[in-house]
Amino acid sequence: MDARLVVLVSGEGTNLQALIDACADPAYGAAVVAVGADRDDIGGLRRAREAGIPAFVLKVADFASREAWDRELAARCAQHLPDLVICAGFMKLVGKAFLGRFAGRCLNTHPALLPSFPGMHGVRDALDYGVKVTGCTVFLVDEGVDAGPVLAQACVPVNDDDDEAALHERIKVAERALLVDTVGRMAREGWSVTGETGRKVRIGS
Ligand code: GRF
Repeated sequence: MDARLVVLVSGEGTNLQALIDACADPAYGAAVVAVGADRDDIGGLRRAREAGIPAFVLKVADFASREAWDRELAARCAQHLPDLVICAGFMKLVGKAFLGRFAGRCLNTHPALLPSFPGMHGVRDALDYGVKVTGCTVFLVDEGVDAGPVLAQACVPVNDDDDEAALHERIKVAERALLVDTVGRMAREGWSVTGETGRKVRIGS
């Protein structure tokens, strides 16, 4: 049976699109069953609509507290019985209620080689630092900021004439491929988290 994916988005949704496209192949082993967003009028919601995937929007501002928003986010995701929840350019930190349900099966993707350059401006921070190689990281979400166990990483060289936009576009090409590959392997082969620090993730047996 296909693994059920709920994908959370805040922007253009090209990572979501890559997952939707991969899921069209029955051998991929997963299906996007719902898309959630924290804002209206974004490419990610348009892509969900065009693919006929149910979508929901939960804006923090519409809730009495961040905790209430987090509880509702968890509940709405849970309605779709996901095997994996994937934050694909979702610009919100999830909280205790969400992690209470989905810790260990919630993924995020970050446009830098963690633990370097976490946070909102990973591409800009890497460029400003002057690194010659950066990349992207797919990881399991925990209560920290871009701090959970690493599932997979890919390198992207920094060019002398790169600005933030050009570098981010090249990173996103690698990021989409990495996310699709990682999610597919997790869906088909399973995964486990081991090691004394609980940080070593192995996909497959
Ligand atoms: C990705 O680079 C993600 O890592 C970052 O925002 C970008 C989202 O791109 N947080 P998209 O919305 O999937 O096109």
